[in-house]
Amino acid sequence: MTSHAPDAPPAPATDPVGRPLPEFADPVRLESHGPARIIALCNQKGGVGKTTTTINLGAALAGYGRKVLIVDFDPQGAASVGLGANPHELDRTVYNLLMERNASLDDMVHPTAVPNLDLLPANIDLSAAEVQLVGEVARESILSRAMRPLEDAYDVILVDCQPSLGLLTVNALTAAHGVLIPLECEFFALRGAALLVETIEKVRDRLNPRLEVDGILATMYDPRTLHSREVIARVHEAFGDQLLHTVIGRTVKFPDSSVAAEPITTYAPTHSGAVAYRQLARELVARGDAA
Ligand SMILES: Nc1ncnc2c1ncn2[C@@H]1O[C@H](COP(=O)(O)OP(=O)(O)OP(=O)(O)O)[C@@H](O)[C@H]1O
Ligand SMILES: [Mg+2]
Repeated sequence: MTSHAPDAPPAPATDPVGRPLPEFADPVRLESHGPARIIALCNQKGGVGKTTTTINLGAALAGYGRKVLIVDFDPQGAASVGLGANPHELDRTVYNLLMERNASLDDMVHPTAVPNLDLLPANIDLSAAEVQLVGEVARESILSRAMRPLEDAYDVILVDCQPSLGLLTVNALTAAHGVLIPLECEFFALRGAALLVETIEKVRDRLNPRLEVDGILATMYDPRTLHSREVIARVHEAFGDQLLHTVIGRTVKFPDSSVAAEPITTYAPTHSGAVAYRQLARELVARGDAA
C-alpha cells in the first residue's frame, strides 16, 4: 500500500469532465419569499429525467427553505403521481388554469408531503388543451398570464414539460425565465438537441426575450462505463459551460422512489441520488438561477 506524505494536499475535486468542482455553499435562508423565478424542464426526447429532476430539484430547493411550486405540464401527469396525487380524483388541474379566464387557484394548488413544496397537478384533461388553445388569441402566452397571480407566493416555479415541442411546451418556454435541459448519457442524447436549442431561440426572439438556458443536466450517468464518459465529454464539447457540474448517476432508487410517490430526498435522503439533487439545487442557487 502506498502512503502519502502527511502534508500532501488532497487532490482537488473534479466533475466528470475534469473541471474543478466548486464547493457549492449552503444557500442562505430567505427572510421573505417571491417573486418566483420560473424554470421550464424541457427536452422533447422522452424518458431523459425531466420529471425526476422536477420532483427532486423541487424537493431539494424546498429543503433549503425555498418556497417551490411544481407545475405538472404533461397530460401523463407523472409529476403529480410522483408527488402522491391521484390524477383521476383531481377535479381542477392546470387544464382549468389554462382554459378559464380568472380561474380560482385555491382548489388547484395542493401542498405535498414535503414542507414548502406545492403542486399544481395535471391529468389527461390537459391533452385537450393543445387543440383548444390553437384558436385562442396570444395562444403561446396563456400559461404565462394565468400563472402571474401565483408568482409572488413562491421563490421558484418548476414547470415539468411533456416530451414534445408543441404548443404546450412553447407556453412553458414563454412563461419561463430559464430552461433546464436534462440529457440522458446515452448515444443518441445529442440528437434533437439542435432542434431544442433552435426552438428556445425562436421563443426568445419572438415571445419571451428574458428566456435563457440555465443549464444542461447530464442524467443517468454511469461512471463505470466508457460509453457514459464519452457521451458526457461530447456534451461538454457541444455545450461548454452550459453543462452543469452536477451530474445525476443512474440508479434504480429513482424508479423505486417514484413507486413510493416520494422524492428521493425524503425516500432515501442519504443516497447518492439525493446528494446529487441537493448539489444541483446549491449549484443553481450559486449560479443565480434559483433564489
Ligand atoms: N438517474 C436515473 N437513474 C435511473 N433511472 C432514472 C433516473 N432518472 C430517471 N429515471 C427513471 O427513468 C424513467 C424516465 O424518467 P422521467 O420520467 O424522469 O423522464 P421524463 O424525461 O420526464 O420522461 P417523459 O419524457 O416520458 O416525460 C423513470 O422510470 C425514472 O424513474
Ligand atoms: Mg416526464
